[in-house]
Amino acid sequence: MTALTLAGIGHAYLGRTVLDNVELAVAPGEVVALVGASGCGKSTLVQIAAGIIEPMRGRTVRSYARQGMVFQEPRLMPWATAVDNIAYPLKLVGVPYGERRGRARAAAARVALAADDLGKFPVALSGGMRQRAAIARALVVEPDFVFFDEPFTALDQALKRRMQDLVIEAATMQAFAALFITHDLIEAVRIAHRIAVLDLNGRGVAGERTLPGVPGMRQDRDIFDEVQSFLHDDPLFCHINDVDERREA
Ligand SMILES: Nc1ncnc2c1ncn2[C@@H]1O[C@H](COP(=O)(O)OP(=O)(O)OP(=O)(O)O)[C@@H](O)[C@H]1O
Ligand SMILES: [Mg+2]
Repeated sequence: MTALTLAGIGHAYLGRTVLDNVELAVAPGEVVALVGASGCGKSTLVQIAAGIIEPMRGRTVRSYARQGMVFQEPRLMPWATAVDNIAYPLKLVGVPYGERRGRARAAAARVALAADDLGKFPVALSGGMRQRAAIARALVVEPDFVFFDEPFTALDQALKRRMQDLVIEAATMQAFAALFITHDLIEAVRIAHRIAVLDLNGRGVAGERTLPGVPGMRQDRDIFDEVQSFLHDDPLFCHINDVDERREA
């Protein structure tokens, strides 16, 4: 049984192929980290998976009920308070005002956003608080699938770790499946059950590695060793720190 299946996905922008023949399946409750070199098509793939972009080739099967999405930048509406931003997806589906506020407050509590901050506008929140609000907005619909596109790249190390812990905890408590895009192998090994590596040129998934243990239960030392061994001993990971300048031509 799968929550999400991507079969033979291909896509091109202005006639230039960015993804070809990508196959990936995510099981219910499973967190899959998708890593790959900059520019290899990760954001395009996650948007196809979430139904934001229609792929030119292939098929997407979504067997989950509700999805949430967290982007690299928080993408909050500047004219709405934190609580109204978090409640917005509920407004879109017609949940009454009182109920949406209550559910938004509960979602905010899950990402440790203080009640004091909920009345603030995005401009008055710190970067970490904004990203928390963005995660709460994804969780407010009680999703059983969440897409993350490099949500913590802009945060400093300590904050990044706290946010990863929040995601691990929410994924465990709410039992959602996730496709989590990241450049950061430490993050991937902390958060995921499995890592899929997208080919350098988006030509399919180059390979997958199932991670030992359970997210949230792994020791830092083991995470570090696992990443070192991927980078030094596993050919699958040799291109993941490459940059995409040559493809800008
Ligand atoms: N809307 C667009 N129009 C034209 N080309 C695009 C568009 N979006 C992305 N591309 C190109 O498609 C390729 C893949 O982009 P994508 O954003 O999916 O890569 P990525 O793996 O997410 O990169 P990064 O790791 O830097 O976020 C890049 O070469 C990019 O320039
Ligand atoms: Mg991207």
